[in-house]
Amino acid sequence: MTIRRPLIAGNWKMNGRVADTAWVERFQDALAASEVDVLVCPPATLLHAFGELLASRAIALGAQDCSPEPDGAYTGDISAGMLKDLGCSHVIVGHSERRSGHGESDALVRSKAEAALREGLTPILCIGENLKEREEGRAVETVLAQLAASLPEARAEKIVIAYEPVWAIGTGRSAGPDEAQEMHAAIRAAWPGADAQALRILYGGSVKPDNAGELLACPDVDGALVGGASLDPRVFARLVNLSS
Ligand code: PGA
Repeated sequence: MTIRRPLIAGNWKMNGRVADTAWVERFQDALAASEVDVLVCPPATLLHAFGELLASRAIALGAQDCSPEPDGAYTGDISAGMLKDLGCSHVIVGHSERRSGHGESDALVRSKAEAALREGLTPILCIGENLKEREEGRAVETVLAQLAASLPEARAEKIVIAYEPVWAIGTGRSAGPDEAQEMHAAIRAAWPGADAQALRILYGGSVKPDNAGELLACPDVDGALVGGASLDPRVFARLVNLSS
């Protein structure tokens, strides 16, 4: 019997305006009773409004990034403490769009995850290989090296790992269940503590209602990090409903 409760997380990326907070009501209306944890990560501009709307609901709030610093002269940055202040319980760190678009190194990602942990936030640490690495048969090796270099010291229940193959993000081409299971099992086996069975490992990359069932049925896939398909409240609710 698994001790892990599935987590379905929506990553809105740089999408959404104030009017889109109506998503919360629509999502809730389409949600059936669920046995899974649900998290939404809107852009920073909407965190405050979402925090107020979600306060009375069983939907957690997360951010998409945080600074490794606690406070101070860091123009444009947002600290983990500020996110906590807005009601966030989670923060994504090391998403491949930040690693590639903003040159974030494993060391920086690790310090962001540590900053999140210091504030009592759960970091969702993203790792994943690119297409060349997969085609050259180096996918597992690449991902485990990223994990080793960006993982902070933490108990398994204080962190979430998201395996997101770069070639599957926003492309409509998801990893197959065998590819996902192989990687998730490798990540769990590489977990440094004795509590690997408590670690939640999400799959991310073109998760949609028509492929979520087979991915979530894999024994080491504990949920999903969903980009595009989280923007439509009914589609995201279908994903949550079929994970229950
Ligand atoms: P996608 O994005 O579902 O649109 O592929 C996933 C992610 O980047 O978290």
